[in-house]
Amino acid sequence: MQIAIDGPASAGKSTIAKQLAADLHFIYLDTGAMYRAVTWWALQQDIPLADEKKILTALDDEPIRFIPAPGGQRVELFGHDITMAIRSEAVTNNVSQVSALPGVRTEMVKRQRDIAAGQNIVMDGRDIGTTVLPHADVKIFMVASVAERAKRRFKDNAEKGIHVPLEKLAQEIEARDFKDSHRTESPLKQAPDAIKVDTTSLTIPQVVAKITAIIQKKQ
Ligand code: CDP
Ligand code: CDP
Repeated sequence: MQIAIDGPASAGKSTIAKQLAADLHFIYLDTGAMYRAVTWWALQQDIPLADEKKILTALDDEPIRFIPAPGGQRVELFGHDITMAIRSEAVTNNVSQVSALPGVRTEMVKRQRDIAAGQNIVMDGRDIGTTVLPHADVKIFMVASVAERAKRRFKDNAEKGIHVPLEKLAQEIEARDFKDSHRTESPLKQAPDAIKVDTTSLTIPQVVAKITAIIQKKQ
């Protein structure tokens, strides 16, 4: 069984997807982490973010490895764990430029499909239901208001000791939403057969319950 969860930043995708995967004993794949890892590597190497050819060498040489696991996913670069490093503000604010590169997307989508082949999987991202797994059994399009998503990011940052004003976070979220949904290659959009779930005023257990009911109906 394949479950695709798409939607904009901080809608709750990864939190819910991880929980669902644990409950169902499925693999969980966070595809955003893959684009983040490539972006992190390019920033580290001072590669201009529009230089697709150079960025792709990171993947050609295979130094980046994605290791899916039920409770989350580890990302390694040359054997070093970069799972936390890819969550930095610098990566967050530059990832949409890298993820818009067609060659990067082709390579990522290929890897995502390879990981999913023959597995029970919950995958979250932006183009899972439209491009990566167009025949997924359940497709969820998760949304929440910009104000609520900025508040969530603010809280996540505070826990990490980072302070970015709420208004700036809202602007960054809107800018990323815009870039992600206006790129030419597999933009963020709801698949026609996806079910929209608005998490603005729902708690995490309420969202999990809602989607679990949708999955059970399918099963
Ligand atoms: O967790 P957050 O919502 O901040 O984002 P993410 O899921 O980690 O994704 C980071 C970025 O990767 C997104 O803003 C997109 O630019 C890109 N992405 C994508 O293009 N396609 C995907 N399937 C997943 C992420
Ligand atoms: O993966 P995505 O960027 O869509 O969102 P996330 O990283 O799963 O969630 C962003 C933050 O919102 C996390 O701190 C979640 O705990 C929180 N959240 C929430 O407060 N209420 C929800 N219904 C869903 C997520």
